[in-house]
Amino acid sequence: MELSSLFLIFSFLALALSSVGESFKNAPAIFVLGDSLADVGNNNNLNVSLTSTANFPPYGIDFPFKTPTGRFSNGYNTIDWLAKHVGYKRSPPSFLSVTKGASMLHGVNFASGGSGILDTTGTAITFTTQIENFRGAIGDLSEKMGEKRANYLISKSLFLISAGSNDMFAYYLASGAQNTTQNEQFVTSLVEKLSERLKVLYEHGARKFGILGLSHLGCIPSLKSRNPTGRCFEDLNGLARIFNTAARARMRRLESMLKGMKYSYGNAYDLMSTALDKPHLFGYKDVNSACCGSGKFNGAISCSLKSNLCSNRSQYLFWDQFHPTQATSKYTAKFFFGGSRKYASPINFKSLARY
Ligand SMILES: *[C@@H]1O[C@H](CO)[C@@H](O)[C@H](O)[C@H]1NC(C)=O
Ligand SMILES: *[C@@H]1O[C@H](CO)[C@@H](O)[C@H](O)[C@H]1NC(C)=O
Ligand SMILES: *[C@@H]1O[C@H](CO)[C@@H](O)[C@H](O)[C@H]1NC(C)=O
Repeated sequence: MELSSLFLIFSFLALALSSVGESFKNAPAIFVLGDSLADVGNNNNLNVSLTSTANFPPYGIDFPFKTPTGRFSNGYNTIDWLAKHVGYKRSPPSFLSVTKGASMLHGVNFASGGSGILDTTGTAITFTTQIENFRGAIGDLSEKMGEKRANYLISKSLFLISAGSNDMFAYYLASGAQNTTQNEQFVTSLVEKLSERLKVLYEHGARKFGILGLSHLGCIPSLKSRNPTGRCFEDLNGLARIFNTAARARMRRLESMLKGMKYSYGNAYDLMSTALDKPHLFGYKDVNSACCGSGKFNGAISCSLKSNLCSNRSQYLFWDQFHPTQATSKYTAKFFFGGSRKYASPINFKSLARY
């Protein structure tokens, strides 16, 4: 018998024992869908010339054993930190590693860097495919645990969703957000699509949704490097705010429509406003440039071994031209999980996990 299948058996045995006669204090598993802010390695086998990947140094320089895992970070990403708060070591394994035999005991991470709410965004594993992969995982779980227990596990699990940023970038770079009517139509269609996708997950048994809201998209080093003034693109930030408002309203409606559904919306936007206003509170020395990259704000050229690399990663808000440092992700998770309603509403992720 292979070691991996042996491990699987022990894992399920452990689950069987731990679930006898007691309800879970926290979420028994975490399922993750979305983009590069959440990906822990699903892009590692995709065509590099078409997709963004992060499985080479200096990515992972602050990860245990300096391992580049495919996380778009110098270390752990926000999903890892959230999973730590729930009581796990890190994010559940990537779907890619599950298909190679890793345990699904505590869930699966389906996220893929470059993907969006819309399947037409990016060239990565689309949201539709991520949901299909989730359906496959339910099938496997049901086979191993029995359908009833698998359904119970899923209903108590935390579903973490990080999506929308790439759709916004694609739209903004194509249209420049010139036309207000068109902007509103676009955001409405995006929220509508997100809602549809969450309903599909609900129909498959998901009940507890933690949404990672959009941040100051117009301030990421990649965009700032394109701005002759060197400032943020405020119109893109505005689009992110409109999206967050509309998505929150839609989540409230979903909760009232779908029996047993619960959610928390993480307010990444206001958290970043605080960080930009008072960087010293977070220990940041630089909230404009990427730690790793080159060109203006280290944001014009992507992070590689040939890039500039800052010496103290914790003093930077941004790791590369698009993504936050591990330090930023740690703060984000801390405020989403245990923070006040300013940073996660209507309940925080901690309450959601225990629901
Ligand atoms: C990756 O994509 C490029 C561009 O479409 C193509 O030329 C190349 O053959 C692909 N490589 C693999 C291994 O599929
Ligand atoms: C703005 O977009 C709407 C909807 O796409 C379109 O009907 C209208 O003509 C546009 N207005 C301008 C000034 O381009
Ligand atoms: C790195 O930066 C953090 C945050 O500002 C600080 O707490 C830490 O002491 C710094 N480490 C070194 C080695 O300078």
